[in-house]
Amino acid sequence: MGDFYEALKGEFSTGRTVWLFALYALTVVLVRALVAKTVRLRALTFFFTMHVVFLLAAAGLNAKESTIAADFRVPGLVFGGVAAVGCIAALLFGVLMSRARVQMPRVLQDVLVAIAALLTSLSVLSRAGVNLSGLIATSAVATAVIGFALQDFMGNLAGGLALQVDNSIEVGDWVKVGDLSGKVLEIRWRYVAIETRNWETVLVPNSVIMKNQVLVLGRRQGQPLQLRRWVYFNVDYRFQPSDVIDAVTTAVRGAKLQRVAADPPPNCVLMELGDSYGKYAVRYWLTDIAVDDPTDSEVRTLVYFALHRAGMRLSIPAQAVFVTQESRERVEDKAKQDRERRRLALTHVDLFNDLSEDERTVLAHGMRYAPFCKGEVITRQGAEAHWLYLVDDGQVSVRVTDQGLEKEVAQLKGPSFFGEMSLMTGEPRSATVVAMGDVECFRLDKETFRKVLTQRPQIAEGVAKVLASRKAELDSARFHLGIDIASRGKTEADLLLKIQKFFGLSGSS
Ligand code: CMP
Repeated sequence: MGDFYEALKGEFSTGRTVWLFALYALTVVLVRALVAKTVRLRALTFFFTMHVVFLLAAAGLNAKESTIAADFRVPGLVFGGVAAVGCIAALLFGVLMSRARVQMPRVLQDVLVAIAALLTSLSVLSRAGVNLSGLIATSAVATAVIGFALQDFMGNLAGGLALQVDNSIEVGDWVKVGDLSGKVLEIRWRYVAIETRNWETVLVPNSVIMKNQVLVLGRRQGQPLQLRRWVYFNVDYRFQPSDVIDAVTTAVRGAKLQRVAADPPPNCVLMELGDSYGKYAVRYWLTDIAVDDPTDSEVRTLVYFALHRAGMRLSIPAQAVFVTQESRERVEDKAKQDRERRRLALTHVDLFNDLSEDERTVLAHGMRYAPFCKGEVITRQGAEAHWLYLVDDGQVSVRVTDQGLEKEVAQLKGPSFFGEMSLMTGEPRSATVVAMGDVECFRLDKETFRKVLTQRPQIAEGVAKVLASRKAELDSARFHLGIDIASRGKTEADLLLKIQKFFGLSGSS
């Protein structure tokens, strides 16, 4: 037993095991304490443990005076050397440089560590008397085999270095390699790790990256990061291409959609004239490449609503046959329901409280169904537009821009209405109104209201009264003012004059 301890002491002193242990312990403590991520500690622990295990075995054999003790000592020493290199690398790259915020590509760190470990191992081996030059030179076959085996390794290594050095791909870039598309997570000496939108991480060997065409998505010199997307839809030839393009372009440019860049603005193009329909595309620039399909979906919904509002329909396959027989009763039933719905919507507009049943019927007839989807701008502050919206279902946000700052001043939930100021007085829109979700509206235009007003011009007085009180309410909500009864009388008179003038009524003189 005594012999074993003596032998162990000898082995540990040859292997400088105590120093190595101190270095190892220091590295573990510093890395754990100062660096969030544990840096390569597992490999270090493995090499250090192997060092100790082999030296223990060598000591055991030595105590028994076995001749093969050296066969265990030498690998033990090599493991020790590699462990020491690992400790120094972890302290240098993991602790010192990361604390000093000095960046060195990971692949370069790996290569330096590998070279240092190789040189240390060779030096340990040659000091232990192993004839390295003979070993390598005499074995031509081994050299060829190693060369062959290293072919891929060297390809990957060179690829990794090239990628790091010329910055052609950077961590965080969105790339497409073949069918694979995702975000670059890290560039290592052997592979590039790419995270896909499906929550997979794909390790693409650097040599594959170097040999293939790689698309760096959304990157353009001197431009913000944004990717052009194509959203296709078909509309049949009952509708003129120019009308389709107008309706869709206005809708996509006007909407306030997150992740759709304002510059360059979205556009709509006719891509193909098919057998029974035109194939169109909306092209827009996506600002967050991670959220491609959901944003496409929002744009598609927008297209659907825009076409619906313009009385156009997405095409159906030419060979589809509708077998529903529209019976007369069914058609009448539908029309009756629709009339009822419009009438009901009108009862929620206090502007029309004084109107007779017949006058309301005239308005109901002239109202146009206008659905909007989330994010669409229904009225824009400052715009000249002379119609009123009756919100039948859904919710809208009323926003006012003051000194360049947009602020929400109210939310209106159907049944409700807005846009009365411009319809009645012709003034520019006082606010921007945006759909907060799907919103179903009816639109009442100036010409329809004129029909009623010219028949009975006195209506204007009631309208002016309600308009003045609504204006006072809106202003008080907007400017946090009390409602001033005296000034309301004047406002009412002003509004009456404006209405009469706008509709060309005789009282305006
Ligand atoms: P108009 O100016 O025609 O167009 C924008 C509409 O937003 C406006 O009519 C009102 O109907 C509505 N609006 C403006 N300010 C407010 C507010 N503070 N609260 C509610 N609705 C408002």
